Amino acid sequence: MADLFRNEIADQLSKVADLPSAELEAMIEVPPDPTMGDYALPCFPLAKTLRKAPNQIADDLASKLEATERISEVRATGPYLNFFVNASVLVRETMEAILASGRDFGSSTYGDGKTVVIDFSSPNISKPFTIGHLRTTAIGNSLGRIYAALGWKVVGINHLGDWGVPHGMNIAAYKLWGDEAALRKNPPYELFNLYVKFNAELEKDPSLNEQVRSWTRKLEKGDPEARSLWSWFREETIKDFDRMYERMDISFSETIGESFFHDKVDDLVDELERKRLAVESEGALVVKLDEFDMPPCILQTGHGTSLYHGRDLAAAKYRKEKYSFDRMIYTTDAGQSLHFKQFFKVLELAGYKWSEDCVHVPFGVITFKKGRMSTRKGNVIFLEDVLDRAVELTRQIIEKKNPDLPNKEQIAEDVGVGAVIYADLDSKRTRDVMFDWDEMLNFNGETGPYIQYTHARYCSVLRKYGEKVPVPDLDYALLREPEAIAVVKCLGQFPDRIHSAAEAYEPSLV
Ligand code: ARG
Repeated sequence: MADLFRNEIADQLSKVADLPSAELEAMIEVPPDPTMGDYALPCFPLAKTLRKAPNQIADDLASKLEATERISEVRATGPYLNFFVNASVLVRETMEAILASGRDFGSSTYGDGKTVVIDFSSPNISKPFTIGHLRTTAIGNSLGRIYAALGWKVVGINHLGDWGVPHGMNIAAYKLWGDEAALRKNPPYELFNLYVKFNAELEKDPSLNEQVRSWTRKLEKGDPEARSLWSWFREETIKDFDRMYERMDISFSETIGESFFHDKVDDLVDELERKRLAVESEGALVVKLDEFDMPPCILQTGHGTSLYHGRDLAAAKYRKEKYSFDRMIYTTDAGQSLHFKQFFKVLELAGYKWSEDCVHVPFGVITFKKGRMSTRKGNVIFLEDVLDRAVELTRQIIEKKNPDLPNKEQIAEDVGVGAVIYADLDSKRTRDVMFDWDEMLNFNGETGPYIQYTHARYCSVLRKYGEKVPVPDLDYALLREPEAIAVVKCLGQFPDRIHSAAEAYEPSLV
């Protein structure tokens, strides 16, 4: 359902302003303060075309438009033209639309026939899931649901970080100090401890780097021992990730990871050499981007070892072939913005027109009171701990307030995990978030638990009325308090919100 009044206002305006209705419709806003009207047309952008001052334009248009049964008043306020809609019409039409579409209210067919690929979560193997990958997971998954509501076919891809130097380091660390029994008991945590220990030792003894290089190379070349350790670490970590995804109710269409692409980088390099884009520079194969004020995009080392950029380029081409997407979204923290700019540019230079359909959706980083998170130093927070603490806190609240609740364990799990995800999605995507236990576990005000509580209460109202919902012959005129009208207006904006959230890649709008 499109906005009920916007269209109509644009049509009326179009007749008196002599501009296309669609253009006007896109300019119409909802004023932040409802006493200013239900809709407003800011006249600044029209000043140039109409060669008049914005205030003058607003006055002229106001004098030419007449109130109707549905739009009860049109008023110029400075450079704005404000519209007041007839509240009883608004209430009735919005409520009827909601009742007619039921659970589908807000969804649309805008994306029918289109495919969006979303590369999200994408944690790195051989360590537990840290809070560092919570945002990409929550935002990417939410965008998937938003696009699906708009009719798009959604392909969610978990592009695991399972290749390259850190994995050579994991093997080196395991060979030096690994204990098979300990690792079998608690795989990703044990691997993480080894990784931190290796980095600490490396500071004292830089010659350890030789072992990292050697294992990384062996891994690349398919050495059986390197491959078998790597695939063991990988499988064990994936099991651990899956437990987290299950708790958060998140799934993917495809989980393949970077390793799948390492042997596809050779072909890519050939292609980019043929197109006179890839050149040798300081012992590596790169695409120079000086012209575009960017450092080179490095595809491969001189030894033929594939690099992050190279693997991402190969993955993008593979996905275009496999899914023939109309849009591809990557969600990572803003620290990787340059990486994406560089590789989208290389796709463009290579003649792939669809590079225009690739979007990086960056988000702010999670910082700590003591600075940035660092896996190497072991200064991280595990997602599992965050979820467990949230669930435990919920359990305590239930014991205090509602000890006879049936199914307490499940409710504590659902509400606790929901609290963490909601807290993440609620803040504007690009804002950096300072990790704070109290804030993450704050259950008052506009929080996940509060919303789940409200939802549960409404469900109970619906259960009570059972068959009688929707009640025939509803008298919408009874909804006339300003609060009731404000709620209905807010509900009426829901379809537009989903749309804007998709276009701005901003779940917090919903
Ligand atoms: N594994 C990477 C990281 O943890 C994120 C990968 C994002 N996706 C991509 N196609 N580069 O930083």
